Amino acid sequence: MVKGTETTWWHSGTVYQVYPRSFCDSDGDGIGDLGGILEKVEYLHWLGVDAVWLSPVYRSPQKDNGYDISDYREIDPTFGTLSQVDELIAALSQKGMKLIMDLVVNHTSVEHPWFAESRASIDSEKRDWYIWREPRVGTRAGDLGAEPTNWESYFSRPAWTLDEKTGEYYLHLFSPDQPDLNWENPAVRQEVYETMRWWLDRGVGGFRMDVINLISKKYPLGDGPVSVESGRGDGREWYLHGPRLTEFLKEMHSEVFAGRDAGIVRIGETPDVTVQQARDLSESGGRKLDMVFQFEHVSLDRARDNWMRPVPLARHEVYRNLADWQDGLASQGWNSLYWTNHDQPRTVSRFGDDSPEHWAQSAKTLATVLYLMKGTAFVYQGDEIGMVNMPFSSLNDFDDISAVEYSRAALDRGRPAEEVLRDLSRTSRDNARTPMQWTSEVSAGFSAGIPWFPVNPSATWLSVAAQRDDPNSVLSHMREVIAARSKFDALATGAFSDIPAPDSRLVAFDRTSTDQTVRVIANLSSEAVRLPSLNMGGLVEHDSLRVGVVSATVLGAWASTVWISA
Ligand code: NOJ
Repeated sequence: MVKGTETTWWHSGTVYQVYPRSFCDSDGDGIGDLGGILEKVEYLHWLGVDAVWLSPVYRSPQKDNGYDISDYREIDPTFGTLSQVDELIAALSQKGMKLIMDLVVNHTSVEHPWFAESRASIDSEKRDWYIWREPRVGTRAGDLGAEPTNWESYFSRPAWTLDEKTGEYYLHLFSPDQPDLNWENPAVRQEVYETMRWWLDRGVGGFRMDVINLISKKYPLGDGPVSVESGRGDGREWYLHGPRLTEFLKEMHSEVFAGRDAGIVRIGETPDVTVQQARDLSESGGRKLDMVFQFEHVSLDRARDNWMRPVPLARHEVYRNLADWQDGLASQGWNSLYWTNHDQPRTVSRFGDDSPEHWAQSAKTLATVLYLMKGTAFVYQGDEIGMVNMPFSSLNDFDDISAVEYSRAALDRGRPAEEVLRDLSRTSRDNARTPMQWTSEVSAGFSAGIPWFPVNPSATWLSVAAQRDDPNSVLSHMREVIAARSKFDALATGAFSDIPAPDSRLVAFDRTSTDQTVRVIANLSSEAVRLPSLNMGGLVEHDSLRVGVVSATVLGAWASTVWISA
């Protein structure tokens, strides 16, 4: 079967994301590693997932925990060896699971030999592999405002850094340690495709492509609208979904994927993507991507011009947004279903209620509602047990580059430290990066040494060990949800239709295939809600997916129920 022609595993499948640094440490150095992942293959199989998406393990100075790569074909010694990756591919495959690699090719590390060569001189053969510019006309290199454009990077600094030696600036949409590759240069693209083929030949099952909608820039580059808060410009007009993006992805298809197995998956991480762009990127025929990660539902609780500043979340808007994406991609395209990942806070603390009273039910109900929609399910490590945000108490507690840079910039602008701490406690990526909680023992069973990042104190009661044998646990529920996705036809490719509810705290939808209906009804609030009468003719309640339902006419707080045609 050739790519792009048929229904494949990911239509009903579930992908589990491993953030290697925080998953499981096998050698006691406090940092998770490939040996640790190998130890957990049995667990992943038991959970029922179809694939593992591995965040970067390539050689890297680890300035952005591996999203700054200095060698695409070597493994960082922190994580292990290339032969352990081969072992992992084999161990997963033996249990019917695939390994999806993270492909980070919008930028490399400054320590990548390509960049070293590029920066060596203006005449270097690889000068044009990155995006170099002279200082702004009328300024001298190093002057305030001499950057070629006024853009702010994603990590709270100017998007250009001066290379003293050659007197030119290079572009980096992330940190100065992550220079952007110049995708206009065909040699760069060929090198990327070659690397991708190399990994596919090793047996990987596809790629999650980091910020792939930023690779094509619109030239000539120009200044963007200035934000009052940072005083810098927003350059998205020049780098989001640029003019050659589609062309590059089609070229990638023909150079890398054409003629290969249909099960190889291409998932694009695409900040700010619109429904229309997502439809276009994942059009049938499969010549671009199979699906994208959209960001709208995870932007609803963030200030418009400041991703790190939380604003109150109206929960019904989250469901509404997801339902709009279901409708938007109904006839063309495919949804990826995620609540969280290594860049987002914990699901239950953000979209649910992590108080002792509602924690378990809200974690379960959020899983039911999202993962029974139409799309591929993505479960981030720890979410299957309902891990919660970290109780940070000082700005010194943060490790992640984006949090550290945000707090530096905010304090420089005179914002009080308590306010910055309040923002970051809610929005920081570090919430997702605390060690995986395997047991209630010391270091949560993550490491025999001292973990690189503190364990969340909830580990005393919240862990895999505490939930694995409990049929009512969040973990058992997640397992049921994952299993249901491939058990019922309607959940794989059945149409989604929203059932309008009279109360915004209540959500209901049907999934229907030719001969089956699955109906999901949930209360996304911490109060009981009166149920409207719904015609349940021919449907029976699926006992093992029922959460906290107390009566036929009232849904308790965070209760949910799933009905399936008899
Ligand atoms: C998106 C990744 O998910 C994030 O962790 C990283 O910092 C940026 N891209 C830059 O690679």
